[in-house]
Amino acid sequence: MKSFDIYKYKVVEKINILSIEEREKILEKAGYNLFNISSKNVTIDLLTDSGTNAISDLQLSMMMLFDESYAGSSSFERFLESAQNFCNKKYIIPVHQGRAAEKIIADIFCKEGNYVLSNTHFDTGFAIYRYKGAIPINIPTPEIDDDSFCFKGNIDLSRLEYLLTNECNRISHVVMTITNNALGGQPVDIENLKQAYLLVKRYDKPFIIDGCRIAENAMLYKKAKNVNLNIREIIHSYTSYCDIFYMSTKKDGIAHMGGFLATDEEKWVSKIRQLAIIFEGFPSYGGLSGKDMEIIARGLNEVLSEDYLNDRINQVSFLGSLLHKEGIPVIKPFGGHAIFVDAQKFIEHITPDDLVGQSLVVELYRLGGIRAVEVGNLMYGKDAIKNLVRLAIPRRVYTYSHLEYVCEIFKEIKNNKKNLTGFEVVSSDPLVPHFTAVLRPKKVGG
Ligand code: F0G
Repeated sequence: MKSFDIYKYKVVEKINILSIEEREKILEKAGYNLFNISSKNVTIDLLTDSGTNAISDLQLSMMMLFDESYAGSSSFERFLESAQNFCNKKYIIPVHQGRAAEKIIADIFCKEGNYVLSNTHFDTGFAIYRYKGAIPINIPTPEIDDDSFCFKGNIDLSRLEYLLTNECNRISHVVMTITNNALGGQPVDIENLKQAYLLVKRYDKPFIIDGCRIAENAMLYKKAKNVNLNIREIIHSYTSYCDIFYMSTKKDGIAHMGGFLATDEEKWVSKIRQLAIIFEGFPSYGGLSGKDMEIIARGLNEVLSEDYLNDRINQVSFLGSLLHKEGIPVIKPFGGHAIFVDAQKFIEHITPDDLVGQSLVVELYRLGGIRAVEVGNLMYGKDAIKNLVRLAIPRRVYTYSHLEYVCEIFKEIKNNKKNLTGFEVVSSDPLVPHFTAVLRPKKVGG
């Protein structure tokens, strides 16, 4: 495997390394919730790949061209052209980030008691639909436990058909999350997307793509199928199978903020635009500064580079392979933005009810200052499909030596994992428990 850093430093930030004792105090003060910890106290921050991207020298220079006009800004014109070319849709409505797009979708389509089907909703969409009184339902492919299957991001077509046939009146719309963030960052196959789209269209329901990592998906698709198409062409094949496309540009926009909705259909654009004006701002900025729009306009081009995407996917699989070699159970094949450790398999003596994933998250921080996120019972409650810990790799931020350090910490945890205890929630906000939870370690035997 190639492990060569294709970027060199121009600006640097010193990493703060605390002692284990200092981190233990910080954890206690933070209610054992890593979202409550200051980033200056984190050694390697793998909490998210969202908005944590390092921008390129060209993005920084484009930023200087910002035009902050309320209407008709030239930064928006560059953003518009770039977003149109990226997803091949005519109408583009900017929003301040992905969840704003999700809120607009929910406001347009959902009524109380509706079902919203998805290969797997990520936490924000999941919470927004529940907030609207709708019921988000995950129907991931049955192959999610098959390590030899490349497209674990797929939707279960037979369950989709069953639900459309038997619950048609309750279903508001279907969302395909590309890649499937919550279950491994794994790609969706175009064939699966196409079948799902055609099925949903037979029942005349809106079909929506959440494509915040669609460039990574396209690269994984290209590698798996060995097709002779460039990344833009592959993305366009995907986006041809949806009524509305939206993305958080904090991911594959290689930006710090932003997002947009896109469609070819006038009937949707007027509905989206009016909600965007009320909640986000005029449609030529949608809650974004001209500087953000410039960074995104350039980022949506940089992300199409196969050098960039190869580097990104190689970094992710480098970490995955290191952990796998050490016997740490990781979800395979490796996805596009993160490595997911199966906490349940790794730490067998702690149950999902005792938040096994959070126990691993806390230990990663205590021992190595590594910040990761639980994707399991704490995040999804009874709807959790697995109990995972996500190590999300920010774009262009860390080097191979940082990833080796992460593996070293895992080795130490493996050797002493018997000493780990479960956690319990002291308090949390019901819609977004993992962001707000205050936790405490469970007493051994308690
Ligand atoms: N859809 C997916 C698949 C996501 O992963 C996220 C965010 C969103 C929508 C919402 O976008 O943050 O711009 O409002 N995911 C982040 C993460 C937070 O850590 O994976 P946003």
